[in-house]
Amino acid sequence: MPDVPKRDVLVVGSLNADLVVRAPRFPGPGETISGENLQVIPGGKGANQAVAAARLGANVSMLGRVGKDNFGDFLLNNLQSNHVNTQFIQRDDASTGTATIIVDGNGQNSIVLSPGANGKVSAADVEYASFSSFSLLLLQLEIPILTVLRAAERAREHGLRVILNPAPAQTLPDKLIALADFLIPNETELSLLTGMEVTDTPSAERAAHTLLGHGAKTVIVTLGSKGALIVDRASSTHVDAFKVDVVDTTAAGDAFIGGFAHALSENESLKDAVRRGCACGALATTKFGAQPSLPIKEEVEKFLK
Ligand code: RIB
Repeated sequence: MPDVPKRDVLVVGSLNADLVVRAPRFPGPGETISGENLQVIPGGKGANQAVAAARLGANVSMLGRVGKDNFGDFLLNNLQSNHVNTQFIQRDDASTGTATIIVDGNGQNSIVLSPGANGKVSAADVEYASFSSFSLLLLQLEIPILTVLRAAERAREHGLRVILNPAPAQTLPDKLIALADFLIPNETELSLLTGMEVTDTPSAERAAHTLLGHGAKTVIVTLGSKGALIVDRASSTHVDAFKVDVVDTTAAGDAFIGGFAHALSENESLKDAVRRGCACGALATTKFGAQPSLPIKEEVEKFLK
């Protein structure tokens, strides 16, 4: 097991090369439309969250897999230039994961994932990092669920707090729900997790309570332009959104998680940490692309003033 300096945040998750085309609208089934030039942009929910927290000043390490290809080099170099420790990222015979993304004229996106090496991140890989060096673990669902579960278990064994972002949307075993200190879905993910319709703040609150019934400790629902909702057994607290001109919503949720995680590691209150997450998410929507849109500390401070 390699020796590492004490670092605060560990992200176990995905790295993708995002293949992005901006188009006036999404094509319908069987339809061909023209868009702008294809751009290759560093992405993947895990890597985005790692970079988001690192740009704010957190000490971040990432565990995952990329291929032995040019995309793999590209993603590793990009993480390193954002001061993310990459020593737990392995090179796999499978290709680096990709996300094929269309961004429409309103800044909304549709994404098709090709997991590649992300699908090979195993429960055994998780044993490779010394969890005792970290205080916070960030998890998403673009790697195998058994790996996510093992990482959460190890975090529990070593006293780390666990943030689980259940994205992309899928159902979860109660065992995993109960291992997360903070479960952070958006409305779509919350709806899929609970089988309940989530259309507004009251329905989000009802669904969040259902997750508490499945063992969740604190549920934070990101509501996009409606802000965020913090729900635990004792209370429900709404945090307002920030108004911005949206260019591209890609990675806004990841920016929220990075900002929230960094604020938690700085011992801010839960409500302040969620407010910082909202600010980071809002700022990320004002720029194009996943990682290029993630704000640095100074931008967030200026925005919050
Ligand atoms: O959350 C945004 C990310 O989702 C993109 O960067 C893409 O890689 C997909 O994983």
